[in-house]
Amino acid sequence: MCGIVGYIGTKHAYPILIKGLERLEYRGYDSAGVAMISESGGLNVYKAKGKVSDLKAFCEEKDTTGCAGIAHTRWATHGEPNSTNAHPHFSASGRLALIHNGIIENYITLKEKLVSRGIQFRSATDSEVLVQLVEYIMQSNGIELLEAVQVALHQVIGAYAIAILDREHPDTIICARQSSPLVVGLGNDEAFYLASDASPIAEYTDKVVYLNDGDIAVLQLGQELKVVNMDNETQTPNVKQIDVTLGQLEKGGYPYFMLKEIFEQPSCLRDCMRGRINVDADRITLSAVIDYREKLVNARRIIIVACGTSWHAGLIGKQLFESLCRIPVSVEYASEFRYRDPVIYPDDVVIAISQSGETADTLAAIELARKAGAFVFGVCNAIGASIPRQTTTGVYIHVGPEIGVASTKAFTGQVTVLSMLALCIANERRTIHGDQYKEMVKELTQIPAKMELALKTNEQIERLAPIFTYAKNCLYLGRGYNYPVALEGALKLKEISYIHAEGYPAAEMKHGPIALIDSEMPVFVIATRDRLYEKVISNIQEVRARGGRVTALVTEGDTQIQKFADHIITLPDTMDCFQPLIASIPLQLLAYHIAVCKGKDVDRPRNLAKSVTVE
Ligand code: M6R
Repeated sequence: MCGIVGYIGTKHAYPILIKGLERLEYRGYDSAGVAMISESGGLNVYKAKGKVSDLKAFCEEKDTTGCAGIAHTRWATHGEPNSTNAHPHFSASGRLALIHNGIIENYITLKEKLVSRGIQFRSATDSEVLVQLVEYIMQSNGIELLEAVQVALHQVIGAYAIAILDREHPDTIICARQSSPLVVGLGNDEAFYLASDASPIAEYTDKVVYLNDGDIAVLQLGQELKVVNMDNETQTPNVKQIDVTLGQLEKGGYPYFMLKEIFEQPSCLRDCMRGRINVDADRITLSAVIDYREKLVNARRIIIVACGTSWHAGLIGKQLFESLCRIPVSVEYASEFRYRDPVIYPDDVVIAISQSGETADTLAAIELARKAGAFVFGVCNAIGASIPRQTTTGVYIHVGPEIGVASTKAFTGQVTVLSMLALCIANERRTIHGDQYKEMVKELTQIPAKMELALKTNEQIERLAPIFTYAKNCLYLGRGYNYPVALEGALKLKEISYIHAEGYPAAEMKHGPIALIDSEMPVFVIATRDRLYEKVISNIQEVRARGGRVTALVTEGDTQIQKFADHIITLPDTMDCFQPLIASIPLQLLAYHIAVCKGKDVDRPRNLAKSVTVE
């Protein structure tokens, strides 16, 4: 949701903080702010409504000197987006500045207590209560910042990643995490970097420490990183090496990250399969399946928990596991699962799918599954994030950082990992024939090349896009493996162009949504040549008979559908189960070009955040 950056070292902090905010802007962008201890020892706090570029403009004539600072880009939860509610928040005396990502659930109780003791609040946020509480504890007990943070956090209920700057101790930043991500970078020149994820840190150092829940870190210039918990017990920081290139964090000549990420899917999927599918393309090796063979092979049932696009990937996973492994699968919205009273057996395998690895609902669903004794397996992209750390084992999708808020390459990466996993388990369970296994593994390795062909539809789609900008509603239809593709296509359009869209199983249309169809309603049908092809043709005719305007995704060589469709987009052929990897590409491109035609900010759609770390 919000993005946090911090720096303490010997360099000028401001440019590092601003660059860091720009890298994290995908997490939230309704307001931004920065606090620095200036060369003269003052604590300067600057905030602006809007994007990081607005903050930069605001700071142009200001004193931005100093080698220690914290900065924040906000996605509002409590209090409207304006400069008062923007972070950093400062304490009553102006001595402390604090940034926060998360939600403080008991902030009203804490605020009332502080107000009754004469403390005046400036903002409508839950976050301000933290900085006021810490200073109040410091003053009333005559203790230093670290101890006051420990006392304060004992009183706080909720999720937080925080960083605090103290005017009286300009050589130190104190930060803490509970259920919201926070990474400390260890610079070669004794500097410390701090961020919500490794992307703002990667260009300065490859050594990072992912803080754990309950950790409080002291970043003091010239000292080793100190990590303690709320009871002041020393924690041993686990230093990890990160492998993120600058190219992965930049647009590389594309106007938007989303377009770059759509186009990098073939190479991402090659990376995803590298080292897992052998050179002869006849065997998949996943270490998680080797290490936990018994658990996976003997699963009584698989429960997939995820949100948004990752949930759509889960729907494809269901079909793969059921058809190849003959294991029953249920696919759950993590946000619903966590608040139901679901039946979970100890011999269930729960697969949590998440690009960011930080989605609060998915983390809560994992917690529930663990408590019920299930074996929890993660499918994640962000290395070292909370979900891979809270699952027993799992498989990274390895598609590189995804910056565009609308998920694209993570979706195809997730489907690829689920395909490999299903094939591995099916092979171990002997629920597919050896020849079929080999044939499918081989076909999976052909997918990146077929995606390259699918990407050639870009120019055609760019030409078509203006036709659809007038639409108020769109329908996406698909069946079998292509039904989740329809859901995902509709989600992409909604997210970035703000056109209402619905994904539907094509045959279900006649049970209701068919009433919506008229000549104003664009209908996108995934009608590739698979086992339900003839049925989908009938569904297209039902749409046509009601004046609907059909754009169909068809398999190369198709001669039938052009008779009924207004537009056809031709795609390379593949096996039914891998069709989503190909068919999702033109739908991603379609959403992208429609949004661009409508003048929307594709990478920063309104109201959305890349990583939803609040429930
Ligand atoms: O990081 P996650 O995969 O857990 O995120 C889940 C959803 O928030 C995410 O897929 C969201 O729906 C995307 N904006 C879709 O494009």
